[in-house]
Amino acid sequence: MDPDALRTSYLGYFKDRDHTLVKSDGLVPRDDPTLLFTGAGMNQFKAQFLGKGTSSYTRATSVQKCLRMPDLDHVGKTPSHHTFFEMLGNFSFGDYFKEEAITWAWELLGEWGIPQDRLSISVYTDDDEAASLWMDKIGVSPDRLYRYGEEDNFWPASAPSKGPNGICGPCSEVYFDWYPEQGEYPPDGPAGDGHRFAEIWNLVFTQYDRQADGRLDPLPQKNIDTGMGFERVVRVLESLEKDCVLPSNFETSLFAPLLRAIHEHIGQETTFGTPEGESVRRIADHVRAATFCIADGVQPSNVKQGYVVRKILRRAMVDRHRLGGDLRKPWLAELAGVTADAMSNAWPDLSERSAAIQSSIAAEEERFATSFLSATQRLEVMTEAARNAGLSVFPPDDSFLLYDTFGLPLDIQKMMLEAEGLTVDEEGYRASMGEQRQRSREETQLSDAIFDEGPLKDVAGDLPPTTFLSETPVAECTLLAIVGEEGEEEAEGVLVVLDQTPFYAEGGGQIGDRGRIEGEGWSVTVDDTVELRGIHLHRGAVTEGAPTPGPCQAAIDQDKRDATARHHTATHLLHQSLRAVLGDDVVQAGSLVTPDRLRFDFRFPRAMTDGEVMRVEENVNQWALSNAPVNAEIMDREAAREVGAMALFGEKYGDTVRVVSVSNPGGEQNSVELCGGSHVRRSGDIGAFRVISEGSIAAGIRRIEARAGMSVIQHSRSADALLEKSSELLKTSPQELETRIQSLQTELKQAQKTLGAALSEQADARLQDCSGTWNGLPSTVGVLEGVPSKSLREIATGQVQGGSELVLIAVPESEATHYVAAMGKGAQAQGFTARDLVEQVGKALKGKGGGSPALAQGRGEHTEELSRVLAEILDAFTPSAEG
Ligand code: SER
Repeated sequence: MDPDALRTSYLGYFKDRDHTLVKSDGLVPRDDPTLLFTGAGMNQFKAQFLGKGTSSYTRATSVQKCLRMPDLDHVGKTPSHHTFFEMLGNFSFGDYFKEEAITWAWELLGEWGIPQDRLSISVYTDDDEAASLWMDKIGVSPDRLYRYGEEDNFWPASAPSKGPNGICGPCSEVYFDWYPEQGEYPPDGPAGDGHRFAEIWNLVFTQYDRQADGRLDPLPQKNIDTGMGFERVVRVLESLEKDCVLPSNFETSLFAPLLRAIHEHIGQETTFGTPEGESVRRIADHVRAATFCIADGVQPSNVKQGYVVRKILRRAMVDRHRLGGDLRKPWLAELAGVTADAMSNAWPDLSERSAAIQSSIAAEEERFATSFLSATQRLEVMTEAARNAGLSVFPPDDSFLLYDTFGLPLDIQKMMLEAEGLTVDEEGYRASMGEQRQRSREETQLSDAIFDEGPLKDVAGDLPPTTFLSETPVAECTLLAIVGEEGEEEAEGVLVVLDQTPFYAEGGGQIGDRGRIEGEGWSVTVDDTVELRGIHLHRGAVTEGAPTPGPCQAAIDQDKRDATARHHTATHLLHQSLRAVLGDDVVQAGSLVTPDRLRFDFRFPRAMTDGEVMRVEENVNQWALSNAPVNAEIMDREAAREVGAMALFGEKYGDTVRVVSVSNPGGEQNSVELCGGSHVRRSGDIGAFRVISEGSIAAGIRRIEARAGMSVIQHSRSADALLEKSSELLKTSPQELETRIQSLQTELKQAQKTLGAALSEQADARLQDCSGTWNGLPSTVGVLEGVPSKSLREIATGQVQGGSELVLIAVPESEATHYVAAMGKGAQAQGFTARDLVEQVGKALKGKGGGSPALAQGRGEHTEELSRVLAEILDAFTPSAEG
């Protein structure tokens, strides 16, 4: 029976038993936003299980296309895991129940020639009904019947205790024994050994609706949902037919054309269980999955289902690279063609869509190849460095850099590093990612996708790249397109495309220009400009009339542009000055240039000293005062390299570049940088420069925030105002402020001292009330309200010095109860330790703490009856086992 015949046989068997043949739902479930992908045959029948909906049948059978991502890491390594797979199923909605489901399952497996002595069964722990059907009706021997808990025999797994909410039920599973010659079953039955046994059929008795509070409400009717792993059963049947054990699902006829094509391409045969074999099988799995997804309308992208397709394709590319393939020539696309041909009998959509699927995969391969290859080289260097440093965990900053600069996702790094014996630090990576998000929060949110999926999709093909008029603030232009931004009203947000524009588009750290575009009877206020695919998108709002394509006038906000240019030139001077003061190790890591401030991020291993910050600031101001000319020149890359222009690592530059240079009459190094941004004519135009802050934003990355021009004046005005206000509050003048603060601090210290003395006097008095005997030893036990918890250790030590052998004192403060325990030498000699005592209190107050046998401390929750709790703990307190 070939795979096509097997599907037909399954469906036919249940059709003969009055089941309606229902087509597979798409891989992206219709009308079920709770699921990213269809993961089981029952998904499309949720309404029927709940007794809702109006279907004309109460019995159904299907072959469902499924995709499960949780198994991703097992694919290729184990004999029977896949991302994409087919599930054969029969379903009853309030019609038949356990007896029929079990009887038919057994009968069909028998009809297929599967020897009964190679099957075993599991049921849910207390499902006596299912157990007795299997044993008494079917005749399964009791030593082939296992009872498992909710993890194995409930669907979804562990639903009673962990959810999800919704329909669920106990289940019964059928296992096939691959190696009967191994004799005795392992004591925990077939569930524990995925190599000896394969679970081939799951019969779910869907009878509950789990509620939010964990209650299992019975469904209005009892249902059946069975699922048989198609690829697994193909392996079982083909193995029996050939009287052998096919090592994995990938050796079946189902995968044969695909494996043959891969082997031909790599020029070698591989076997299951070898590293090459693993890669080959993963490629087969992932190509199949991508092919089916794209056929169902999911294109590779950065969101939701599209991201999953992108991810599996990229993983397949990594495997191809590992096998020595040249990623610059697409090939997975060809394999998608092989998949479509091989499976189109069962899935005719595939052959219809094969060409489109292939071109989508080829485009994805091309997109990833270049960055992947650069990333790999970089990764090799980093791996070497990590090894030399004796690390077993790859540094998270490197992981982040690989992702951020080369787009190499963490899971792929993980795959590649695993082969090198290194692990990734996921938490550290996520922290770097969070910091980066924070850093780029102010950058554009628009993505390239707006041309393919967004509001520009209908006109995108006709739009030429925009000519940027860098030297004119106002220009006569032609409006080519205007569309509402995704999800926004036109008056709220529009994107305007012109043939040419004076608006600078965000880039190189400099924010996009603002201004106004006006035509006959209409105007648009522009508050940002970004560039995608060479097209400037003016983002703004319609403030008058209804803009239409045709002539218009575009004018930037010149004041803002000038202020931005001041900050941009200042950024270059700052960069060079940092190198002058801190050395050439300073490497730019990012920047933001706006009309009223600048931000400069750079790699440097330590904080700058105040003196260094001041020298840098002075350097920039001296440079400004020298009024040196600022030149921008277009030259080819080679020439730029010769003049020593600094480029930003990871930034893409064309063959001709713009080089901005400012000579340094002070005799130090000139500033020479590749830059497409706006600059002043002479350094004196900067006016003034102030560093506002210097600090760390990530491991090894510093950030300077600074201001230039009028913004410095504004900043110093508000600093003055703050000083005035503070002086007023402290009833003094700005000149006297420092003395005034010092004298207030002295007064405060004095007051704290007096208070401290009073409190400890009070505590001493109250401590006397706490002293007594415990277990024949002098003790100090009690609750001291109002005593600062900070002094607890000191108080406890004092008590021991004063002769107390056991001290236990608790202080309730507003947010927690603090407690301390101390033991004298005598108590310790009897085996009592302060650490144990604090542990006991911790148990009672759900607290945390620790310390030595002599002195320990902790904090926990409040309790109304603190004294009683302490007394009870002491009553039950026994010597430590160690003692
Ligand atoms: N829903 C069950 C499963 O996926 C049976 O079809 O295993």
